[in-house]
Amino acid sequence: MLMVDIIRKKRDGQRLTKEEIDFFINGYVKGNIPDYQVSALMMAIYFKGMDDEETADLTKAMLYSGEKLDLSAIKGFKVDKHSTGGVGDKTSLVLTPMVASLGVPVAKMSGRGLGHTGGTIDKLESFKGFSTSITNEQFIHNVNTIGISIMGQTKDLAPADKLLYALRDVTATVDNMSLIASSIMSKKLAAGADGIVLDVKSGSGAFMKTDEDATLLAKKMVDIGKRANVRTMAVISDMDQPLGRAVGNSMEVKEAIKTLSGEGPDDLRELCLTLGSYMVWFAGKAGSCEEARSLLEEQLSNGKALEKFADFIEAQGGSREEVYNTDTLPKASKSRILTADKDCYVSSIMSEDVGVASLLLGGGRRSKEDVIDLSVGIYLHKKVGEKCAKGDKVATLYGNDETKMDEAFKRISQAYDFSDDPVSKNKLIKGIVE
Ligand code: URA
Repeated sequence: MLMVDIIRKKRDGQRLTKEEIDFFINGYVKGNIPDYQVSALMMAIYFKGMDDEETADLTKAMLYSGEKLDLSAIKGFKVDKHSTGGVGDKTSLVLTPMVASLGVPVAKMSGRGLGHTGGTIDKLESFKGFSTSITNEQFIHNVNTIGISIMGQTKDLAPADKLLYALRDVTATVDNMSLIASSIMSKKLAAGADGIVLDVKSGSGAFMKTDEDATLLAKKMVDIGKRANVRTMAVISDMDQPLGRAVGNSMEVKEAIKTLSGEGPDDLRELCLTLGSYMVWFAGKAGSCEEARSLLEEQLSNGKALEKFADFIEAQGGSREEVYNTDTLPKASKSRILTADKDCYVSSIMSEDVGVASLLLGGGRRSKEDVIDLSVGIYLHKKVGEKCAKGDKVATLYGNDETKMDEAFKRISQAYDFSDDPVSKNKLIKGIVE
């Protein structure tokens, strides 16, 4: 088999066989096929697309390019969750202890933030001493004893995706549905769960800018999961404004703790309850999604979800006292407030600009090696549809460096748009794909 024939075939709009897909993935991982040929193939796929069977075959080839995590030592039905990424998205921090508190085993691999979106591991490192660099044995032990553990993604998980993603990033071939779906699902399936709940974001701050595209991506991922005999569903959720009100690592942790205590912003709580209901139902801990939801609401109001979070932080080196008293979490030394200069309504908040403002404050990474400032961030006092009186606080920036704050302030000011007339609130849950 020759790589040039595979490129030509896709360039001419034909479908690739499983053997051809296996050939190029294996050859690329072994270093037998050069970057320039794989780049050409990625561009051909970008323009000509892949059907569902090709997408499933590509996922499988990437999944088996490395080790599949063996979670068989964990008792019970394991459900994983994945978000396609957004600004202020601290869902995992709330969702995982919430479902674990009902006996659903949570064995999750998470990542760090890059660019304008944050990462769960960075946020968790706001707790002194907390670490996700644990061995597979420790990971499994923690899930079996306290019901929850989160670790960083191992190097051996879907290595083909790591190589391909880096290549797509520099050849303008990231935003293709089949390539995104296979990239995400290869890692999720390699992580070994019995069920997968996906949060596909739609809007200005997401990969998918429209609900139609987000639904199409969700359908592709759900199809891949089902073909692999893993129970899979997706929620399409709003990313036309940040989720919750806090953006920035330790600030997001505080908001997650509030939500776990039964308070917190409505949108974050609602999204966690929606995703969590499916996780609990899939795991057989409730007879229906509705029953699962009321069980979860109970765990938020009776303190059990928060207690599970404290167990988890403690088991991975942090202090449970910091969960109950967040005053010692990293805190910025300076603040600056954006106020409304007239009576008005918030008509839009560009999520990406808010994410970039947090990055400019030092809360995000421009490259993988950057060290981030966990204390900085932005608090959104006003969200879309909310009324502002002249002089009201719209957003507060928290930072440690005046020059960085100047730049971030400009970005936050441009993120907001206002209207003299009332504006309806954004719809949070835009669809469910099962
Ligand atoms: N996230 C991934 O893991 N892969 C993609 O291709 C896009 C987003």
